[in-house]
Amino acid sequence: MAFSGYRCSACGADFGPAEATYTCPRCAGNLDVTQDLAGVDRKAVEASRDPSMWRYAPLLPVAPPGPEAGALGTVGGTPLFRADALGTELGLSRVWIKDDGRNPTGSLKDRASAVVVQRARDLGVSPIITASTGNAGVALAAMARAAGTEAIVLVPESAPPAKIAQLQIFGARLLLVRGSYDDAFRLSTEAAEQLGWYCRNTGQNPFTVEGKKTAAFEIAEQLGWRAPDRVVVSVGDGNIITGVHRGFRQLVDLGWIDRMPKLLGVQAEGSSPIARAWAQGAETIDPVAAHTRADSISAGDPSDGLRALGAVRDSGGAYVSVSDEAIIASIAHLGRGAAVFAEPAAAAAHAGLAAALEDGTVGRDEEVVILVTGTGLKDIDAAIQAANTSPTVIDPTMEALREQLASD
Ligand SMILES: Cc1ncc(COP(=O)(O)O)c(C=O)c1O
Ligand SMILES: [Zn+2]
Repeated sequence: MAFSGYRCSACGADFGPAEATYTCPRCAGNLDVTQDLAGVDRKAVEASRDPSMWRYAPLLPVAPPGPEAGALGTVGGTPLFRADALGTELGLSRVWIKDDGRNPTGSLKDRASAVVVQRARDLGVSPIITASTGNAGVALAAMARAAGTEAIVLVPESAPPAKIAQLQIFGARLLLVRGSYDDAFRLSTEAAEQLGWYCRNTGQNPFTVEGKKTAAFEIAEQLGWRAPDRVVVSVGDGNIITGVHRGFRQLVDLGWIDRMPKLLGVQAEGSSPIARAWAQGAETIDPVAAHTRADSISAGDPSDGLRALGAVRDSGGAYVSVSDEAIIASIAHLGRGAAVFAEPAAAAAHAGLAAALEDGTVGRDEEVVILVTGTGLKDIDAAIQAANTSPTVIDPTMEALREQLASD
């Protein structure tokens, strides 16, 4: 288990493992976990028979779960596959999909929650509380249940019904908040502080990034230990893109891959404080009142915005923002072009890639990986809107079938 403490991403101060828990005690910046990975041998990873994210245990700051932890041990190991037809439509010859909707609860957030649950076990603390737009809470509820610990989840009242149903089925203590994700975030931080609960909050807890970086490890290993030219990531709080950056950076530092991919961060226009700061070349992020149909990336006051800006800058990448209409249209493009079912926030990555190709931010000669962060089953209403057709109903006869075919 490689964990030696923390370094503040804002002021650079170092802290021992017991000297910090969430953000920087000096300046409240996001903390990076510090790790000594010098002796880790790639062969140890390659020799693992574990197809899950835990095959990268030598690079993680928590111990992997035992077999008794059930679903907790099955996170990650999601497929990377070619999307040639989608690529042709976009005018690209090399496009891959990394489908993280195929995680146990249907989103990439399982990776973060799995690591945080293991961290809570190492600390001997419970229950675990989190604010969430939905997916992070669902992931925590499931992983906590698998580990036999309790989860308390605060989500906006407006969260899609499928996410709320998942939370109920996994048996989390669920509280719907009359307000936004940003309101739920503030309340959960306060509750954790006053009630002594362990807080998973995205970005605030340094271990969420440690789970998310495994998506980058998998992409690199699945490509035969190399980086693509570009990885496209949808961005709300900015924690996934920070994790993806950290994963690739660690592999470059280890010499397991020879370069960083450029990151393309995609925000929804109605929730784009990071993309706006990027466009203005600003070093700070001005919060906005977030409004977007892509609920998972509706984060007006991003909890990991500065690291997310730095990650994209370090990679030589860029940020773009896209309209809700383009996001909904991309759900259909991914379905028809690549047989992938994505929720709006995940489809935003495709919409952002299309926009970035259009304005020349991404070149048509690039090899691109689209990270699909959540399954379309999370938000059926959005999928129905994207399909934009009513299914045809017929009588169960050949006559009715022939008649219908003739009239189509
Ligand atoms: C499906 C999906 N995509 C993208 C994101 C954005 O991740 P982040 O908020 O870390 O930027 C989330 C976060 O909830 C998500 O659930
Ligand atoms: Zn600091």
